[in-house]
Amino acid sequence: MELSDIEKLYLQRQSCREFSDREVGEDLIGEICRIALLAPSARNAQPWQLIAVMGNQLPEFVKAVQPMGMNRFASDANALIVVAEDGGGVMQVGPVLRENPYVKNDLGILTAHLVLAAEAAGLGTCILGARDENRLRELLGFKKDRHIPHVVAVGYPKEGYEIREKKRKPLETTFTLLK
Ligand SMILES: Cc1cc2nc3c(=O)[nH]c(=O)nc-3n(C[C@H](O)[C@H](O)[C@H](O)COP(=O)(O)O)c2cc1C
Repeated sequence: MELSDIEKLYLQRQSCREFSDREVGEDLIGEICRIALLAPSARNAQPWQLIAVMGNQLPEFVKAVQPMGMNRFASDANALIVVAEDGGGVMQVGPVLRENPYVKNDLGILTAHLVLAAEAAGLGTCILGARDENRLRELLGFKKDRHIPHVVAVGYPKEGYEIREKKRKPLETTFTLLK
């Protein structure tokens, strides 16, 4: 694999807000989750859980990512993948349980792996931070302290869905080389 292959993948990956009605197989959803879960985490604590929601379960979860009329396109997603903390934000350090200050970083890194794995599989994704977290916890039977930072909408992009040019801050404002 060349660096340019990775760049191509990154340029291709975009927030997909128009999904086709082509079904995504359960196996493929399982595969991209399995591969994403190879992501690194602080102390290898893997403080996460991915919950793939499909079929009859989907409509209620879709409503939970459409607060105040947002994310309407999520109604056309074939699956939602809930990215959740595994429980309470604590990690085992030797014999004791300590607060894990890295949970949020780890969940973000996992999500990055997930959307890129999905892209490599030809799927479109959109990370959804706008969500009713309480409702999601209720649907999943999670306790109140269990953080759900975002959900990922997944589906095949609508045919002809254009790849947008990336709008990013000028490199000189976001990258510095110190030597
Ligand atoms: C943590 C996070 C939350 C986001 N929440 C939403 C959301 O609720 N709805 C949405 O349409 N896009 C959401 N996005 C997508 C961003 O708007 C998008 O990544 C950004 O504009 C860059 O565009 P690109 O993903 O197409 O490169 C979210 C992205 C991240 C990383």
